[in-house]
Amino acid sequence: MNPAADRVAPFYAVEINQLANARERAGLPVIHMEVGQPSAGAPAAAIAAGQRALAECPQGYWESGALVERIDAHYRAVYGIAPGATRIVLTMGASAALVLAMTVLFPPGARVALPRPGYPAHRNALHALGFTPVELDCGAATRFQPTAAMIAALEPAPAGLILTSPSNPTGTMIPDAELAAIAAVCAARGIRILSDETYHGITYARRARSLLEYDPEAVIVNTFSKYWCMTGWRLGWTVVPEQLADAMHRFAGNLFLVPPTLAQHVALAAMDEQAELESRVATYARNRDLLMGALATLGIGRIAPPDGAFYLYADVGDLTRDSLAFCRELLDATGVALNTGRDFDRVHGDRYVRISFAVTTDETLQAIENLVAWLKRRKRA
Ligand SMILES: Cc1ncc(COP(=O)(O)O)c(C=O)c1O
Repeated sequence: MNPAADRVAPFYAVEINQLANARERAGLPVIHMEVGQPSAGAPAAAIAAGQRALAECPQGYWESGALVERIDAHYRAVYGIAPGATRIVLTMGASAALVLAMTVLFPPGARVALPRPGYPAHRNALHALGFTPVELDCGAATRFQPTAAMIAALEPAPAGLILTSPSNPTGTMIPDAELAAIAAVCAARGIRILSDETYHGITYARRARSLLEYDPEAVIVNTFSKYWCMTGWRLGWTVVPEQLADAMHRFAGNLFLVPPTLAQHVALAAMDEQAELESRVATYARNRDLLMGALATLGIGRIAPPDGAFYLYADVGDLTRDSLAFCRELLDATGVALNTGRDFDRVHGDRYVRISFAVTTDETLQAIENLVAWLKRRKRA
C-alpha cells in the first residue's frame, strides 16, 4: 500500500453517519447531530442566483474576480483589515485550502503543532503530506485551546502551528489577548501560523478576530461551508502573505484548476444575505442553550460552553469508557446520532462525544427528550 494511505486514520463521524443513514433507509427516524454541517442550505436568494447562472452561463473553468473583491471587502467590514485581492485564492472548500496552505507554508517534513482535541483532517492531512504533527494536549483547564505558554515551551520550536478558533470539536475560542500572545511567541520563535477560520461568523458572545489582525504573515483558511451553509458546494478560500501569493495561485491552479463555477455565483449572492444567515446563528444559539441546560440536569455538566461553531464537546466519562460504543447504542435505541470524541482526540476522546446542534430547534428538543428517556432506562438497567 502507498505509505501516505497508511498514514490516514479512519473518520468515525462517517461510520456513524452511515449507520444513521441505514436506519433512515429502514424507515426509522434519525436526528443527525453527528455531522458538522448546517441542516439548512444556502440562502434562498443565493440559490436563485445559482439558477440564473445555470440558465445564462456555460459553467466553464472560471474564477470570479467579483467574489475575490467581495471577500476582500468582507475583511475590511468584519476585521478592519484589507488583505487585497491578490492575496486571496479561491479553493474547493477549506479542505483544499488546508492542503494548499500546508504545502506552501511548511518546509518538507516539518514539525507542525496543533491542538488535541482538534479537527482530525488537520492531523491526517499533515501526516499524508509527510509532515510531523506535534499534538498539544489541550484539556478543560484551557478550554481545549492552546496557550502562548504551551507554544513557548515546545522544544525544539516547530516550523508551524495550526489554530482553530472557534474550534471543532469544542466551539471554544482563544481569548483575544491570548491570540495576540500566541502571535508574539510565534513571531519570536519563527513559527508560521496557519489559522483555520472555518467557523467565523458563528459566534455567541463576541466576534472572532482573524489572526491577520495579529500576524499579517499568517495564512488564513476559510470556507462558505458553515456560516454561509454551503457545505456541498465546495468553495472556500485562503489568504496568504504577498510573498506567497504567486506560489499559492500557481499551486492551486496546478492541483485543482479552478473552484466550482456555479458555487462561485451562489457564494457571491450568499454574501449579501446576512439577515437570513444571522437568523440561523440565532437558532444555533437557542439550541446551544437548550442542550447546555439539559445536559447539566443529566449530570453531563463537564462542558466548556461553546463560544462559537455549532458543537458541544461533552465529557461522558461517568457513563462510558468507550464513546464510540456509546454513540452506536444511543443511535440504535433513540435515533439520535452523535459523534465519538475519538475522531478528535486519540488519547482522551473515548470519554467524550461531540454534539452538532446545527439542526432545527424542534429536532434539538426531540433529541433532548430521547436522550433523557434513554439515560433513565440505561440507569435502571
Ligand atoms: C475546522 C475545520 N476546517 C475545515 C473543515 C472543512 O470544511 P470544508 O467543507 O470547507 O472543506 C471543517 C469541516 O468540518 C472543519 O471543521
